[in-house]
Amino acid sequence: MRIVAFTGAGISAESGIPTFRGKDGLWKKFKVEELATPEAFFRNPKLVWEWYDWRRQLIAKAEPNEAHKILVKMEEEFPDFFLITQNVDGLHQRAGSKKVVELHGNIWKVRCVDCGQESYDYRTPLPEIPPRCEKCGGLLRPGVVWFGEMLPLDALEEAYRLSREADIFIVIGTSGVVYPAAELPYVAKEHGAQVMEVNPEKTPISRIADIIYEEKASTGLKKVYEYIKEKYGSKG
Ligand code: OAD
Ligand code: ZN
Repeated sequence: MRIVAFTGAGISAESGIPTFRGKDGLWKKFKVEELATPEAFFRNPKLVWEWYDWRRQLIAKAEPNEAHKILVKMEEEFPDFFLITQNVDGLHQRAGSKKVVELHGNIWKVRCVDCGQESYDYRTPLPEIPPRCEKCGGLLRPGVVWFGEMLPLDALEEAYRLSREADIFIVIGTSGVVYPAAELPYVAKEHGAQVMEVNPEKTPISRIADIIYEEKASTGLKKVYEYIKEKYGSKG
């Protein structure tokens, strides 16, 4: 019984991290094309880094919530459980999840635009903005995927494979509008998975969901967990 959880910004909302869309979403206050594209970065790396530095500080102060913890429990309990996330906040790993595929990178990662050197930098705030590569002095960029960029191929292939092979595919807190990530629930469904959705609002994915918990990630996931245990036993 393979269980795959697929998360978006909504799972971190209860940790106090703003989502992107919706009424208090980041894309209401900020413009994508000024902050989350490669063009924006090369035009004004300082501005883009200030925005990421601010987000890094918000995330550093936040704690994983009950929903993150339920996914850790599921990983520990079900032998064939995997997590695919669009989130860059690293809260799944901080909660204790180990089998995590990150589709959109990680906000704590930095990468040199000249030599490609990649590393993690957890300092907040960063001592110098924009930060520079220790090896070659080149400009460092956040290790996240921006609009107009390819997703990391290894992560994407892994995500497609897990989705094809899933028996239960749980979609949590994503608006389901950013591709190719948003395609995964459809891939799972086409290959026979039961699709479950946890989201206080309807999304395009709701149309193909077999079971919908129209509520917050923490309470909705608790119900998903109980449903799976009830139906399939504790080994999933
Ligand atoms: P969005 O901000 O687009 O969607 C967040 C979803 O979470 C919405 O459907 C909300 O209804 C739902 N939500 C809000 N509060 C919730 C709660 N407490 N529990 C559960 N769900 C809740 O975020 P994503 O779908 O993750 O990409 O966005 C996808 C991508 O667009 C992001 O990875 C990022 C963004 O721009 C890039 O930057 C490439
Ligand atoms: Zn370098």
